[in-house]
Amino acid sequence: MSSTSPHAPDTARFPVLPPGFVFGTATASYQIEGAHDEDGRGPSIWDTFSHAPGRTAGGATGDIACDHYHRYREDVELLRRLGVDSYRFSVAWPRIQPRGTGPANTKGLDFYDRLTDALLEAGVSPAVTLYHWDLPQALEDRGGWRVRETAEAFAEYTRLVVERLGDRVGRWITLNEPFCSAFVGYAEGRHAPGAREGTGALAAAHHLLLAHGNAVRVLREAGASQIGITLNLDRIHAASSSPADLAALRRAETLHNEVWTEPLFNGRYPTGESETWGELADGSYRRDGDLDTIGTPLDFVGLNFYRPLTVSDAPHAEAHASRRTAMDIRVAESDPYGTRHTTMGWPVVPAAFTELLVDLSARYPNLPPVYITENGSAEADTVSPDGAVRDTDRVAYLRDHLAAVSAAIDAGVDVRGYYCWSLLDNFEWARGYGQRFGIVRVDYETQERTPKDSYHWFRELITVNRASA
Ligand code: NOJ
Repeated sequence: MSSTSPHAPDTARFPVLPPGFVFGTATASYQIEGAHDEDGRGPSIWDTFSHAPGRTAGGATGDIACDHYHRYREDVELLRRLGVDSYRFSVAWPRIQPRGTGPANTKGLDFYDRLTDALLEAGVSPAVTLYHWDLPQALEDRGGWRVRETAEAFAEYTRLVVERLGDRVGRWITLNEPFCSAFVGYAEGRHAPGAREGTGALAAAHHLLLAHGNAVRVLREAGASQIGITLNLDRIHAASSSPADLAALRRAETLHNEVWTEPLFNGRYPTGESETWGELADGSYRRDGDLDTIGTPLDFVGLNFYRPLTVSDAPHAEAHASRRTAMDIRVAESDPYGTRHTTMGWPVVPAAFTELLVDLSARYPNLPPVYITENGSAEADTVSPDGAVRDTDRVAYLRDHLAAVSAAIDAGVDVRGYYCWSLLDNFEWARGYGQRFGIVRVDYETQERTPKDSYHWFRELITVNRASA
């Protein structure tokens, strides 16, 4: 771990957040842990996917990643020195149930037990995500999120985890970004399991929501007091004001946002779904009572925000020529803002973050308090001859997005906390290791951790905010 000292941060420009605001950082199991076949862990869909040819940049896998499974004490020490209130990590389902169902693998639970204790000793409160995309492969072999049994299995898995950690973990997040699990995993195929289906993806979306509702009930019965879900809702613009692009915007709103927010916060399926899904939707996977389960009240909603989207109408295939559906949308992440873009190709538009938060809370008056469970930027970091990583673009990104959160709070949105993505550079899914989101650099050859300037800046931000509280 390097002790390189940073440039003096410009404290005058620190965003000010309300007293009691929670500052944290976030990671996810498959992206950092490595140790893919240790202590009884079974394979997940991401092991299978990343080992298949051509699926990830450069054939990258999470076999070793940041080796956090063996180095978690060093990583907790980084958190302690950072001074964060909380750390969001995910539990790998295939460590707990290597085949997706059945009794707990004690060694898997032991790891998260040790991590939880280490965090508490460091004065950092754990926030546990139960599902951050690493579905046991055995469940995918039986249909994965396309089938209802997976939502039932998730309840059992949740019970095993909360029975072990519930006495020490205060904050629980059922799912991370179910949009990606359902649509990037089962429709676009860019993520595991790499399927390209229509109805299968819609069934997956429903079963993910059902799994969430099942887990909320299990957590509540176990006495958990802070329960939520993490969504990546999008701020979406139409590329033009043409009727066709505005219709594409409506479909995109259903696909990206309302498919989650309507069942969770309004007790119904989106009103625009038949025009959005067309003949893809058959609804046969829905049962009476599902909406009640899905809508079980939450203590908070987690939001991940990185960049706004622009959509336009784009007929996708002959089959859809006469009737547009969710498949006939072109989504652009990179234009037309004319702003700086991160190495992901994402435009940096902090105002879109404020707009998203303000619109969401206006639209859903019963929205629970919000935690920002991820926000951050991938940058082309370089190590200076003196060993420092002067990631000024990331510092500016974090500062401007925290200011955007502060503006939303001033406008009346109840935002309670902010978790920076990510503590460490890590396995950026299909994009591999080339995209670095960490406020701590990881040298993947040596596994050396080097806090970047953004780490030192974040620590100062926390100190300044505490002092002014
Ligand atoms: C959201 C996902 O939850 C996380 O796993 C990913 O690394 C970041 N977005 C950045 O793409």
